[in-house]
Amino acid sequence: MNITQKTILITGGGSGIGFAIAKLLSEKDNQIIITGRTEAKLKDAVAKLNNVSYFVADVTKEADVNKLVNYLAEKHPTLDVIINNAGQASVYNLANAPAYDNSVAEFATNYFAPVRLIDKLLPTLKTKKEAAIINVTSVLAIAPSYDLPTYSASKFALRAYTQALRFSLKDVNPNVKVFELMPPLVDTEFSAEIGGSNGIPPAQVAEEFVRAVENDQYEIRVGFTAQFWDSFLKSPEEAFLMLNSRR
Ligand SMILES: NC(=O)c1ccc[n+]([C@@H]2O[C@H](COP(=O)([O-])OP(=O)(O)OC[C@H]3O[C@@H](n4cnc5c(N)ncnc54)[C@H](OP(=O)(O)O)[C@@H]3O)[C@@H](O)[C@H]2O)c1
Repeated sequence: MNITQKTILITGGGSGIGFAIAKLLSEKDNQIIITGRTEAKLKDAVAKLNNVSYFVADVTKEADVNKLVNYLAEKHPTLDVIINNAGQASVYNLANAPAYDNSVAEFATNYFAPVRLIDKLLPTLKTKKEAAIINVTSVLAIAPSYDLPTYSASKFALRAYTQALRFSLKDVNPNVKVFELMPPLVDTEFSAEIGGSNGIPPAQVAEEFVRAVENDQYEIRVGFTAQFWDSFLKSPEEAFLMLNSRR
């Protein structure tokens, strides 16, 4: 699809991968709205970019999401692309820590928040000539990691939902395209605890992402994720062991 002259919402666009995508897309003549919980971070990000504005909203809070949706309807009625990028993770091992509280927090941000936002914005997107929903999952949506067990589970859930949404809309509303961005380890604040400094730069993710969207490549397996996908198709067991020996 054409990804210029669009109005694009990026959740968690104040840093990391979301910021790199905001930067690249703003340079391609798009209007960008970034969101996050920390106003100072968003202000700082907006000051570095052109054609970008911000709205403070916690994606897990329904009241914030309702305010965001109203703001978009009023100030950015041309919205045609949403990128569900905000994410959170807990690093721990299921063998020696309980999983319930971590799961609730991770699913709130990584799964329920994108689903709720899409529920609220899909009616608008359906009215647009060419619209897109992009959900950011992970290489860990293909196979789980020992040290991010319930984060992996939340990204598996988001991947399943994203695939179902894509196929549900394909024939009925082909104007709304559904993409899944699957980064490998990326060097951001988010991944600091899991050796993210060994990861690829966010700008590389943004470049591969934009190229894939332009080519209607709906599953965007960036860098190592593409290699991992090939290994996984050959042998899920070996791929799983390889993934978990890398860290
Ligand atoms: N880095 C990696 O290795 C990697 C690999 C695969 C997938 N991913 C995925 O890529 C996405 C972006 O991650 P990143 O690495 O770029 O991390 P990042 O630099 O920490 O960015 C995440 C952004 O999300 C925002 N955010 C977090 N919780 C939020 C909430 N409840 N409501 C609104 N905004 C929220 C954060 O801002 P505030 O804290 O100010 O709200 C932050 O700006 C995530 O979905 C992550 O799961 C990352």
